[in-house]
Amino acid sequence: MAEKHTNSKNEKIKNSGHEWDGITENDYPEPSWLRVAFYITIFFSLGYWILFPSWPTPNDRGALNWSSESQLVDDIKDINKLKDEYQLSFDKASFEAIMKDPKLLHFAMTSGRSTFQNNCAVCHGAGGGGNPGYPNLTAGAWMWGGTVEEIYQTLLHGIRNTDPDSHDSQMPAFGRDKLLSIEDIKLMSHYAIYLSKSDEEKSKEVSIDLKKADEVFQANCASCHGSDAKGNTIVGAPNLTDAIWLYGGDYETVYDVIFNGRGGQMPYWQGKLTDSAIRGVAVYVHQLGGGK
Ligand code: HEC
Ligand code: HEC
Repeated sequence: MAEKHTNSKNEKIKNSGHEWDGITENDYPEPSWLRVAFYITIFFSLGYWILFPSWPTPNDRGALNWSSESQLVDDIKDINKLKDEYQLSFDKASFEAIMKDPKLLHFAMTSGRSTFQNNCAVCHGAGGGGNPGYPNLTAGAWMWGGTVEEIYQTLLHGIRNTDPDSHDSQMPAFGRDKLLSIEDIKLMSHYAIYLSKSDEEKSKEVSIDLKKADEVFQANCASCHGSDAKGNTIVGAPNLTDAIWLYGGDYETVYDVIFNGRGGQMPYWQGKLTDSAIRGVAVYVHQLGGGK
């Protein structure tokens, strides 16, 4: 057992005299670094004790008058100050400047996304994907124009509503108002579907009298949808060649659109949302559609 009483440096080990079953308790002073650290923690805790809430004093706040509540209030003030700064530069910036500045764009997207979820998603879907009659805003196919400025105007005044500046042209009711014969309406329905197809599919089409169809189209539809059927944003006439359907691309739906006409409505947002919110959501929608 002799080795138990010397350490690795062969110094004699001091012993407290306690021994249990041959296990002895050594007796050394703690290392000085540990002692110093120990006193430092005591001084630190004393300071902490005085400066921060620990004594049950009337306001429970310590010498620094600190409370987690006041800390939160300060943090919120800082955040709001930062937000106000962004808001101010956002409100002053042109759309062009916003698009070029990643920070302002991010700010617009964040505010735009929440405005969209609260006001627009009911009709256009949470992701802007649309529903029959409610356009898909992610497709990059714009009836009324897809620049931010055009989207902003569409939002300010809406579509076919009581705002005097709202967009207002309509798809005529060719059947109900007897503008075309039923035969021509059927032809135009097939033709509109034909126009949305790929060149390969088009080359296989044999059942439509294309020459006649083009004549009827140029005489009755081209004024709004364009002679190439690619649409016209001034009158909100959709592109009929892109296979992106507002109402649906099946024969019955297309026939119904041409027979009964259509005029989808969207509320105006001017006065209902702040200008800043409308600008933000215009940027958001513009980005959803891939920008133009
Ligand atoms: C009550 C339903 C409704 C709500 C709410 C609504 N929209 Fe619309 N929106 C429509 C309809 C319907 C159209 C298509 C009108 C038409 O046929 O031209 C439309 C069209 C649009 C267009 C034009 C699309 C194009 O192709 O040019 C944009 C942009 C748009 N909405 C954005 C928004 C935004 C942003 C909001 C929220 C601030 C919103 N909408 C809220 C129903 C709605
Ligand atoms: C006065 C302008 C105008 C004329 C003329 C016109 N359209 Fe339209 N058309 C529109 C507008 C505007 C819409 C979109 C209606 C809406 O947004 O609710 C539309 C929508 C349509 C749609 C629905 C497209 C979709 O994505 O669901 C079809 C199909 C269509 N038109 C075919 C025709 C055909 C075929 C003719 C000629 C027989 C014609 N239009 C003549 C303005 C016109």
